Amino acid sequence: MVKTVLVCPPTHYKVVYKINPWMDTKNPVTQARALAEFNALKRAYQKLGVTVHEIPQKEGLPDMVYAANFGFPFRLGKKNIFIPANFMHDERKKESALAEDYFKKKGFQIRRIAKDIIWEGQGDLLKAGDTYIVGWGKRSDKKAKGALAERLEVREKDMIDLRLTSGHYYHVDTALAPLDENTVVINSKAFNRTGLRKIHNRFDRVIEASDQDNSVLACNLVVVEQNKKKTIVTGKGISQALKDQCRDHGFSVREIPMNEFRKGGGSVKCLTLEYY
Ligand code: ARG
Repeated sequence: MVKTVLVCPPTHYKVVYKINPWMDTKNPVTQARALAEFNALKRAYQKLGVTVHEIPQKEGLPDMVYAANFGFPFRLGKKNIFIPANFMHDERKKESALAEDYFKKKGFQIRRIAKDIIWEGQGDLLKAGDTYIVGWGKRSDKKAKGALAERLEVREKDMIDLRLTSGHYYHVDTALAPLDENTVVINSKAFNRTGLRKIHNRFDRVIEASDQDNSVLACNLVVVEQNKKKTIVTGKGISQALKDQCRDHGFSVREIPMNEFRKGGGSVKCLTLEYY
């Protein structure tokens, strides 16, 4: 469970192009509200004992606030390693070098994947216990899985790849969230039968988010553990039924308003790059 995160304060956040179905340039962001939402998220993390690092947003890169897409920082033995993303859209490609620079300065070893393999960081790479979950089909290539296995130094059989089938749920972190090693929350409409079978085979407990939950990107959440107490941090507006199920499984739920960031197609997890 996460102890350290990297976030990007929304000083230049806007919706000025459309690269996912949530984005609508006619539905502009209110910057002051975005900043208030971001600060509420940051404070929630800090209260829960998470170390929050920040990278400044560069003007002209309005989606840089979605730090989850930067890549994947992790620890292997005594080494800190960062795998930078290869973004699909030109609008975001420059973020990857900025993140790489950031982690290089912090002493991380950089392990790139081949340029022709599209992969959008933690948007399409999640971890449940020792299992890596790789999303593909919308914003990452299927072949990212093999390249990532090599960089992460894990066997491909410790990875589950899931094809994303619904436009609104274009990164796996918009449609699935491991709560712990054996529990997962999913939007079942975002996967095909093969994917659902893989999910049910891997997890003992599969919680299904409702349409209401999915409309607020409920699965786009981060789990924090402090003094054995586990808290799910997610966007405001999720159903009572989902909250109850999470509580029944031993999790507290902390909701943060995320209206402004949903305009760009993201919520709590998209804003958060977790260190593993
Ligand atoms: N507007 C951003 C994009 O389309 C949103 C990214 C959401 N990030 C995520 N981890 N799902 O790239």
